[in-house]
Amino acid sequence: MLKREKAQPIFERAMKVMAKGVSSNFRYWGPTSTPVVARGKGAKVWDVDGNEFIDYRLGWGPMILGHADERVNAAVHAAIDHGAIFAAATEMEVIVAEKICAMVPGMEMLRFTNTGTEATMHSLRVARGYTGREKFIKFEGQYHGMHDYVLFSTASSSIHSLGARRSPVAVQVGSGIPKGIRDYVISLPFNDFEAVERAVKERYWEIAAIIVEPALGNSAGIEADPGFLAHLRKLCDEYGMVLIFDEVKTGFRIANGGAREAYGVISDISAYAKSLGNGYPVAAFGGKREIMELIGPGSVAHAGTYGGNALSMAAANAVLDILAASPVLANLAKRGQRLKSGLSEILSDADIPHQMTGHPNMPGFLITEEKINDYRGMARHNAEIYDAILGYLYEHGVWAEIDAREPWFLCEAHDEALIDETLNRFQDAVKAVKTSYPRHTDGAGNQA
Ligand SMILES: Cc1ncc(COP(=O)(O)O)c(C=O)c1O
Repeated sequence: MLKREKAQPIFERAMKVMAKGVSSNFRYWGPTSTPVVARGKGAKVWDVDGNEFIDYRLGWGPMILGHADERVNAAVHAAIDHGAIFAAATEMEVIVAEKICAMVPGMEMLRFTNTGTEATMHSLRVARGYTGREKFIKFEGQYHGMHDYVLFSTASSSIHSLGARRSPVAVQVGSGIPKGIRDYVISLPFNDFEAVERAVKERYWEIAAIIVEPALGNSAGIEADPGFLAHLRKLCDEYGMVLIFDEVKTGFRIANGGAREAYGVISDISAYAKSLGNGYPVAAFGGKREIMELIGPGSVAHAGTYGGNALSMAAANAVLDILAASPVLANLAKRGQRLKSGLSEILSDADIPHQMTGHPNMPGFLITEEKINDYRGMARHNAEIYDAILGYLYEHGVWAEIDAREPWFLCEAHDEALIDETLNRFQDAVKAVKTSYPRHTDGAGNQA
C-alpha cells in the first residue's frame, strides 16, 4: 500500500469544502484512496506523501512535452509581467493562430477558447448555424466534454444500456440534462459503416454535423477502421453535413497536424485543447473559412472572458515552436511503439489474450480474445484483470489510468530509460496478477 499519511487528512478537508473533494468527477477514487498530487517534472509526478510515479496520465493528455516544461514556463513567466486579459485582441493571438493554420492541414480560420468542452460546444453551434439543421451524430464511447448536448452514450454509460446495435439508445450521463436534448442527439456505434449510412439517409435534412473523435481517446484509444473516417467525410459531402473532428486528445499529439495529418482525412471543423498548451488552459476550434466566417455579432455567437488570454497564448506559442522545430511527435511515436510492443510481448509471454490499441502516442490495450473496434466491444474486455495489473503498477510507481478506457499518454520526457523501467515493472505486475488470478488469465480473457 502506498503511504497516505499526508494525502488522507488533506482529502478529508477537501471532502468538507468541495463536492467529493475534487474539481472533476473523474478524479474521485473513493473516500480512502483519492490521490493528492504535490508536483510534477518531466514524465514524473510525486504525491503529497512523496510517492514517485512515472506518469502516463499526464493530466489526461495535455502534457505533451512533460510536466513543468522549462521552455513553456519561461514563455508564460515572461507574459505574466505584461498582464493576463484585456477584453481586446492581442498580436500574440494572431501569431498563434497563424502558426496553427500553417501546421494543421486545411485549417483556414479559428477561434480560441479555454477548454475542450467549449471547443466542441462552439463547433456544434457553428455547424448548426451553417447548415440551419439542429441534430447531430455522435459515437458511443466518445466523450466530447461536459456540455449537455454531448453527455449521451459516453464511456461513462453502461455498455448494457445502449440498446440494440440497429436501434441504439442515446443514454444520458447522469441527472440534470433536460430530456428534450436527447432529441438532438443520434448516437451510433463507432466503426459501423452501415449504421452511419442508414442514419444519414433516413434524416440527413435535419442533421447538421457528425462529431467524431478520430481515435477513441476515451475508449482505449481504439482507432477508426480503414476507410471509416473517409466514409464519414463522403457522407458529409454528399448530404451537406459538417464533419467535426474532436481532436482534444489527438490534436498536437499524434502528429503536428493531428488526426487530419495522421489519418489523411480533413474535417470541416476541428476542436483542439490539451496538448496545445502543455497544461495551460487553451483550446481552439476552427477549419473552413466559409463556416468559421459565420461567427460574429448578430450571427453565430461565440465569446469568453478568458479566450485567447495572454498566458495561454504564450504557452501555446512556445509549444507550437517546439513542435515545429524538431520531430518531437515522430520521436515520441518510436518510443510509444516500443512501449506498445514491449507490453504486448509481456502479455503474450504470460499467455494473457489481449489486443493492443491506439496510436503509439496514446496507446492502450484490452484483455480480450476477440477483436474489439467499438465501445460496445469493450464488454468483451476483462476489466478485472486489466485493473489488477494497472493497480499493481500504480502501487509500484507507474501511473497509467487504472481503467482501460483511458489510453496511456506519452510525452517528450518519456525517454528510453523510463520506457525500460516501465516494462520491467509491467512484467512484475503481470507476474503478480497471474498468480492472483490464475483461472482468469489462463486462456479465457473474459470475465469468468
Ligand atoms: C475527446 C475529448 N473532447 C473533449 C474533452 C473535454 O475537454 P475539457 O476537459 O478541456 O473540457 C475531452 C476531455 O478529456 C476529451 O477527451
